[in-house]
Amino acid sequence: MSQTVIRVENLSKQYVLGALRHDTLRDQLAAGMRRLAGRGTASPDQNRIWALQDVSFAVDQGEIIGVIGRNGSGKSTLLKILARITRPTRGRATIRGQVGSLLEVGTGFHAELTGRENIYLNGAILGMSRQETQRKFDEIVAFAEVEKFIDTPVKRYSSGMYLRLAFAVAAHLESEILLVDEVLAVGDAAFQKKCLGKMGSIVDEGRTILFVSHNMTAIQGLCSRAIWLDLGQMLEDGPTQQVVSNYLRSNASGTHAEQTWDDFASAPGSDEVRLHRVAARPRDGQPQDAITVLDPVVLEFEYWNQQPGLHLNLSLFVHNEQGIMVFNTAPLHEPVWHGRPFPVGLFRSVCHIPGSLLNDGTYRVTLLVVKDQAIVLSRHADILTFEVQDSSAARGAWHGQWPGVVRPLLEWETELRATLSGAPVERDSSTTARS
Ligand SMILES: Nc1ncnc2c1ncn2[C@@H]1O[C@H](COP(=O)(O)OP(=O)(O)OP(=O)(O)O)[C@@H](O)[C@H]1O
Ligand SMILES: [Mg+2]
Repeated sequence: MSQTVIRVENLSKQYVLGALRHDTLRDQLAAGMRRLAGRGTASPDQNRIWALQDVSFAVDQGEIIGVIGRNGSGKSTLLKILARITRPTRGRATIRGQVGSLLEVGTGFHAELTGRENIYLNGAILGMSRQETQRKFDEIVAFAEVEKFIDTPVKRYSSGMYLRLAFAVAAHLESEILLVDEVLAVGDAAFQKKCLGKMGSIVDEGRTILFVSHNMTAIQGLCSRAIWLDLGQMLEDGPTQQVVSNYLRSNASGTHAEQTWDDFASAPGSDEVRLHRVAARPRDGQPQDAITVLDPVVLEFEYWNQQPGLHLNLSLFVHNEQGIMVFNTAPLHEPVWHGRPFPVGLFRSVCHIPGSLLNDGTYRVTLLVVKDQAIVLSRHADILTFEVQDSSAARGAWHGQWPGVVRPLLEWETELRATLSGAPVERDSSTTARS
C-alpha cells in the first residue's frame, strides 16, 4: 500500500485586502474578479478575501500532481502553506518528509550570499549534513550551469541563472517532497526541457511532486493526476486528462477565442513586435460563434512591427486537449509579405484551417513571432483557445465519441467487382460514398 505523504484537510487562508500587495496587473484583475464574484465575503468585512477555501486532498508517496487554475485561484497560496512559508487561517496540512520548494523565484535564497553559500544553507535547512550536501554539490552546479559564478553573490545573477540554481538546489537536495511553482514560465526552452526531464526522474526515485503550471502540455506530460483550483476552491481532483479538458472547456483557463491589447506598451511581445489582437472564428462567423467539425476555421493575428526592415514570420503550434500537438504551421508560402522586409506598421496574418479536418474538442494555439526564420522574438503559450463542436450532419448513424487526433472527410470508393453467379459486372454498378 502506498503511503500518504501529504494530507490537506479543509485548508483555508484568508488575506486582508488592505495588506494586499498588488504586484502585477493580473493580481489586481484577480482580486477584482473575486470581489465581483462575491467570493471571499464569508466575513462581513469586505476587505478580507479567502485565497483558499475548504480545500482537502491527500497525496501518496511518488505521485506527481499538477495544480492548475487561473491567475489568483490560490495555487501559490496552497504551495506556500505546504512549504510552511505562511500559515493557514483554518484547517490543516500534514506532511511526512522533508519538503524542498521552488516557489516564486527568490524564496529560499539569500541575495547577499554566494551561490555556493546558498547551496549549503538550503542543505542545512533540509537537515542535511555538510558532507551530504558536499556530495550533491558538483551535480547541482553542473545542472545549473553556473560554475563560473558559484562564488558570486546571487544578487548579481541574471534571472535565468538564479532560476537555474534554484531549480537545481530544489531538485537535487534530498527532499522527499518537491513543490514547484511555475518554473517553466521563466527559463528558456532548453532549460525547461531539462527541468521536465529532471522532474520525471525525481518521481522515478519515489519522491513526490506538486507542480503548479499554466503550461497544460507540461502538466499533461508529467502528471497523471491534477487538481483544479478556482477562486480558492477545489473544483476537481482527478485524472489529468479529464481535469485539464474540463478546465480548458470552462473558459476559466484565461485564454479565449479573442483577445485585444489596446495599450501598445503593455501588450505582449518584444521590443520589435507587439501583439494587438488574436482571434479564432468559423470562416463565416465571429469569434463568439460556435465552430463545428465541418467549418473552416480562421485564426487571425494582428501585430505591430516596430523595427523597419525585419523579416518576420509567425509560427503556430496547435495542441488538442490531450496535449498532443496536432500540427505546426508557418506562412512560408504566403505570397505577399513572406521574405520581404516588414516596414513599421500594424500587420495582420490570417491562417486558414480547412473544414472537416479537426476532430471535436478544445484546441490551444501557441504563437511564436520569428525573425529571419530562425530567431524567436517572442513566444505566447496558449494565446488562443477554441472549441470545435461535433455536428450531427457529419456523424451519420454513429453516436459515440469519434476517435482520432484528426477527423478528415476523406474520399471513398466502393465498387462491385464480381457476383456469385459470375455474371459480368457492368461498369456503372460502382458506387461512391463519402465517409
Ligand atoms: N500576501 C498576500 N496578501 C494578500 N493577498 C494575497 C497575498 N498573496 C496572495 N494574495 C491573494 O490571494 C489570492 C490567491 O493568490 P495566489 O498567489 O495563491 O494565486 P495563484 O493561483 O498562484 O495565481 P497565479 O496563477 O497568478 O500565480 C489572490 O487574490 C491574491 O491576490
Ligand atoms: Mg502563483
